Amino acid sequence: MDAGVLSNATTLGQCQILLQIDKEDVALIAKRLEVSPAQILDDRATAPVVLLAVKPQSAPALFGELKPFLAPGQVVVSIMAGVTIGAVQSGLGHEAVVRVMPNTPAQIGLGMNVYYAAPAVSAAQLRGVEALLQASGQALAVASEDAIDAATAISGSGPAYVFFFAEHWMQAALKLGFTADQAEQLVQQTLTGATALWKHQRVPVATLREQVTSKGGTTAAALEHFQQRAIGQHLEEGIDRAYRRAKELGR
Ligand SMILES: NC(=O)c1ccc[n+]([C@@H]2O[C@H](COP(=O)([O-])OP(=O)(O)OC[C@H]3O[C@@H](n4cnc5c(N)ncnc54)[C@H](OP(=O)(O)O)[C@@H]3O)[C@@H](O)[C@H]2O)c1
Repeated sequence: MDAGVLSNATTLGQCQILLQIDKEDVALIAKRLEVSPAQILDDRATAPVVLLAVKPQSAPALFGELKPFLAPGQVVVSIMAGVTIGAVQSGLGHEAVVRVMPNTPAQIGLGMNVYYAAPAVSAAQLRGVEALLQASGQALAVASEDAIDAATAISGSGPAYVFFFAEHWMQAALKLGFTADQAEQLVQQTLTGATALWKHQRVPVATLREQVTSKGGTTAAALEHFQQRAIGQHLEEGIDRAYRRAKELGR
C-alpha cells in the first residue's frame, strides 16, 4: 500500500493520514507539499486518522513509537494482516481502532477494502474512514474480526492467486509458440474481458463458464483435466491455509 492513494492527496490534512505507511513516503509527501518531514511527523497527534501499514512483525516497535503521540479524538486504522483490534488497542492504549483488509489494486483505485470497527469508533470517524477507503476502491463493512481474517484469504491475498494463475497460463502460451509479449496480451485481455463480462452479464459465474464449454470441445478438455487433478479443491484448500495463517499471525 503506498503511492497510489498519495496521488489523491492534495492538502497536508489529507496526507497526514498516511504518515505511518512508509518513511520514504513521508519524505515524498513533504517534498510534494513543500513542508519539512518533521512537520508531518510532529502532527502525529493531530491527524484525524492514523494509518498503520507496517509489517505485522514491526507492529510492537511502531506501537512504542506512536503511543506517546496519540490523542483521544483520533481514529487508528490498521491494515496489518492478522493483527487483532485488541492487540492494537492494548499496544497503543487507544480504543478507537478500525481493522481494514485492503489489496494492492487499491494503488489504482480498484481496491477491495474490507473493514471492521471497534465499538469505540464514532459514527463520524467511521464515515471518514469509509471515505478514505472508497478513495482507493470498494469498501465492505463486516460484522466480526474473524471475517477480516477470512477477507485476508479471499481478497487481501487474492491478487496473488490471479497473478499465479496468469504466470502458468502464460507459460502454456509460450510452450504453444507465442512470444512473451503475445502471451501477456492474450492472458491479460482474457482476464480483463472475462471479469468485465462477468460484471456486465450479472449471471452466475458457472453459467459463463458453461457458455464457453461445449461437450467434447477444447474448453471441456482443459476443465476435465483440472477436475481430474482436483485443481479447484486444491485452490480452496490453499485459501483456507491463508485464512489459518492470518489467525496464526494474530496470536
Ligand atoms: N501487500 C499486500 O498485498 C497487502 C494486502 C493487505 C494488507 N497488507 C498489509 O500491509 C502492511 C504492509 O505490507 P507491505 O507489503 O506494504 O509491506 P512493506 O512493503 O514492508 O511496507 C511496510 C513499510 O513500513 C515501513 N516501516 C516499518 N516500520 C516502521 C516504523 N516503525 N515507522 C514507519 N514506517 C515503518 C517499512 O519501512 P522499511 O522498509 O524502511 O522498514 C516499509 O516501508 C502489512 O501489515 C500487510 O499485512 C498488505
